[in-house]
Amino acid sequence: MTTPSFDNTDVAPTNDVAATRPYDDLNVSSDAFWEQDVEKRDLIFKQLREQRPISWQRPIETALHPQQNDPGFWAVVRHADIVEVSKNPDVFVSGYGVMFDVLPPVFLQMAMSFLAMDNPQHDKVRGLVGKAFTRPQIRRIDDDIASRARRIIATAREKAAAGEPIDFVADISRHLPIEMFGDMFGVPEELRPTVAHAADEIVAWADPVLLAGRDGAQVQVEATTQIHQIAAQLIAERREAPAEDLLTNLVQAEVDGEKLTDPEIGAIMVLFAVAATDTTRHTASFAVKALTDFPDQREWLWEDFEGRIDSAIEEFLRWGSVVLNFRRTAVAEYELNGQHVLPGDKVVMMYPSGNRDAEVFDRPDAFDLARKPNAHITFGGGGLHFCLGNQLAKSMLRSLFRELHQQMPGCVAGEPTLMKTNFMRGVVSLPFEPNLVSQP
Ligand code: HEM
Repeated sequence: MTTPSFDNTDVAPTNDVAATRPYDDLNVSSDAFWEQDVEKRDLIFKQLREQRPISWQRPIETALHPQQNDPGFWAVVRHADIVEVSKNPDVFVSGYGVMFDVLPPVFLQMAMSFLAMDNPQHDKVRGLVGKAFTRPQIRRIDDDIASRARRIIATAREKAAAGEPIDFVADISRHLPIEMFGDMFGVPEELRPTVAHAADEIVAWADPVLLAGRDGAQVQVEATTQIHQIAAQLIAERREAPAEDLLTNLVQAEVDGEKLTDPEIGAIMVLFAVAATDTTRHTASFAVKALTDFPDQREWLWEDFEGRIDSAIEEFLRWGSVVLNFRRTAVAEYELNGQHVLPGDKVVMMYPSGNRDAEVFDRPDAFDLARKPNAHITFGGGGLHFCLGNQLAKSMLRSLFRELHQQMPGCVAGEPTLMKTNFMRGVVSLPFEPNLVSQP
C-alpha cells in the first residue's frame, strides 16, 4: 500500500481501467449542477441514492488546476457508504488531496495541514494540536463565546435601532467565528480582518462573482501566503514572549521530542482560518433563514430554548450541510456497495446527500428541530478526520441563537445571495430584519 509522505509530494497511483468506464447519465460534475441550491441538487442525488449509489462521474467541469487525462471520480451519495469510506482511511487516503481539484503538493502543505495527511503523520500533528487545546484554553474560549455573542447581537440591535439596514452575514454571523479563531491563535484585533478576508479568498476560488475576473489559483496562493506571513510574525513574537493562546501552545508543544516547524504551524493556522470561520458562519445563516421559513419550528424552539437548543443545533447542522464534499483517493482495491474501486480512483463523498438519506432520516426533507436521533454527517462520516472543531462550532451556534432568542425574538431573514462553489454551501449576504418593535 502506498502511504503518502509527510510532505505530500508522492504521486498518486493510477490505473488503466478508470479511463474506460462509462460516465453516469446523471451528471454531478457540471457547473450547472453545483450552481443550484440544495433542494434541486438533491433531486439528482435522490435518484442516485436509490438507483446508483456509487456512480462514475466526469471530471469536475471547472477545475482550478485541471488535470490532463483526468478520468473522473466515484460519487458516493448514501449515508452508509460515506461512513464506510470515512472509516477506512488505510484504503481511502487523504494525502493526495481532499478537494475535487488536485491541488499542487505545495498548496496541500501550505493550506491543508493534517486534513490532507494520512497516518502516522495525521495523528502526530492532530495530536499536537489536540494537546494545544488544553483544558484552561478551551474553558477560556467557552467563556468568551457567550459574552462575544451577546455583544455582537447588541451591536446589531443598536444599528437597527438607528434605522440602518442589517445584513445577517456582515453584521452577525461573520463575527463570532472570526473572533473565536482570532482568540484561539492570539491574532491581534487589527490583523483579524486581514486573516478573515484571506480565508474568504481561499474559499472563493470557484465563485466568479467573488473572484471578479481574477485568477482563482493565484488568489488562493496569495491569500495563503498572507496568512503564513502573519503566522510567522506571531510565532516569532510567541517565542520571545509566550502568551495564553493556542499559538503559544503550538510553538511549545512536543511529541516524542519533536516540535512543529514554522511552516507547519502556518499551515495549521490556514486550515483553522478556513475550517473555523466559513463553516460556522454559513451554518448560522442557513439556520436563521430556516427559522424564518418554518415559523412553527421557531415557535417550538423559542418556547423552551434551553431545553431544546441542543437537538435544534443538530438539525441546523444537518439542514445547512455546508461542506458539500471531501475527496479521498483509493490506494487498494475495494468493493464499495457493488462497485469495484481500484487504486488511484478518486472517491468523493457528498455529505448533503448523505444527510437526506431516507434510509437514515425519517422525512429527510423536513426541517425538524426535535429530530432524534439525528445521525447527520455534517462534520464528516467519522474516523480520523472527523471535525476537530465540532464542539466549538456547536458552542458558537448555541450562544448566537440564545442571543437572537433573547434580544431579537421576532427577527426574520430575507432571501440569501448564495456563493457559487462546488465545495462550500455558503451565504454571501442575507437581508435581515430584527423586528425590534415586536419584542415583548
Ligand atoms: C458548522 C461548522 C463546521 C462544519 C460543518 C465542519 C465540517 C468539517 C468536515 C466535513 C470536516 C472533514 C471531516 C472528514 O474528512 O471526515 C472537518 C474537519 C476539520 N474541521 Fe471542521 N467543521 C466546522 C467547524 C469547525 C471549527 C469551528 C473548527 C476549528 C476550531 C474546525 C476545524 C476542523 C479541523 C482542524 C478539521 C480537520 C480534522 C482532521 O483532518 O483531522 N471545524 N470539518
